[in-house]
Amino acid sequence: MMQTEPIFNDNLKNEFTTRFGSSPEFIVSAPGRVNLIGEHTDYNDGFVFPVAIDKYLHIAASPRSGRQVHLYALDMNEEAIFSLDAPDESDTPAWCKYLKGVAHLLQEMVLSNIGQTLQGMSAVITGNVPIGAGLSSSAALEVASALAFLGVCGLEISNTGVETKADITLIELPPTELAALCQRAENEFVGVNCGIMDPTISLLGKTDHALFLDCRTLGYEQVPLNLTDILLVICNTNVKRELASSEYNKRRTECERGVEIMQQWMPSITSLRDVSLEDFKKYEAELPQITQKRCRYVIEENTRVQSAVSALIAKDISTFGTLMNESHTGLRDAYEVSCDELNVLTDIAQNIDGVIGARMTGAGFGGCTVNLVYSDVVETFQNRIMKEYTQRTGIEPDIYVCNVGDGARINWHTES
Ligand code: GLA
Repeated sequence: MMQTEPIFNDNLKNEFTTRFGSSPEFIVSAPGRVNLIGEHTDYNDGFVFPVAIDKYLHIAASPRSGRQVHLYALDMNEEAIFSLDAPDESDTPAWCKYLKGVAHLLQEMVLSNIGQTLQGMSAVITGNVPIGAGLSSSAALEVASALAFLGVCGLEISNTGVETKADITLIELPPTELAALCQRAENEFVGVNCGIMDPTISLLGKTDHALFLDCRTLGYEQVPLNLTDILLVICNTNVKRELASSEYNKRRTECERGVEIMQQWMPSITSLRDVSLEDFKKYEAELPQITQKRCRYVIEENTRVQSAVSALIAKDISTFGTLMNESHTGLRDAYEVSCDELNVLTDIAQNIDGVIGARMTGAGFGGCTVNLVYSDVVETFQNRIMKEYTQRTGIEPDIYVCNVGDGARINWHTES
């Protein structure tokens, strides 16, 4: 796959200059993601295998004196102002919560430790990660705002500079720790109980690599994809993810319940990650039926991720595809987080010759599917998805043929 750079949008720079009177000091770009396999495993301490896609959220920013943050969301044509001293007081749009949460936690968990204080910021936000489509536009916003708040304080973490400026201080903050901070911002300030996968891949994505992440230890490996003649195609159901947050939290509770029950036989387990399929089979009959289905799915999916990574390394792409298909079946029938539209998309895709694997991706209940497709059938794939999905659901899908891009970056050279 091709190497791609974030596209620095001239509109963004012009808008910034018009609003704030000078060009931005830097532009941060953080990508969305698609998960190849390992769904609903991150909050069970399990394994995931996502990639960063070449769709980005950009923040153009400069420091401003004082403690106010002035924001403009270009694509929504919405302004917001809040004070770092009183983040709860102002009546700001919903997307502002992400920035407020990140700012608060950066101060508490990072800056206080190095004797620094957050500074005011002027910023314009734009991007092309579809919002609410399960491609992690929220994680991209959190990660980009974390780097922007650090940037206005003259700070940067070591893996994000395109070319660092002379007067910038690199701080010792592992990307996985910054990802955990972003996750906490979403959990505590936005009220979504999401896991660690999305901000981690947004920070640690690498062109043409997928991230094999152990969500317990946060150890990771960037695995080369080597997808010669294969394209990554994302299909958007264009169905709003109505149930996503309530059902998502319910699944988490069901998994925790399973662990609690099984602790009577296996006292040392703390999450489903600790349960092998073999042990599970001994006790599953004792679990309530729903709990049983949910736990079995997670335990099997963890094994699938490990097998998929081995298959990829062994260049056995067909096994990789089969595992993707099986993952979808599990999400549909056992974990029950799919929906008719996602099932229609996967059904059409899996029946096209030259499609290696197809599954829903992300939290579910709408959003997108991820497909690995041989490049010579991509056109047929697009035509058939457009036609048959529209016929069967009455909804027009969106199709994105994506490249696997790099993780979040800060670019200090905004003048050119
Ligand atoms: C959402 C969450 C992630 C993960 C996926 C499901 O994207 O933000 O943490 O749990 O759902 O795999």
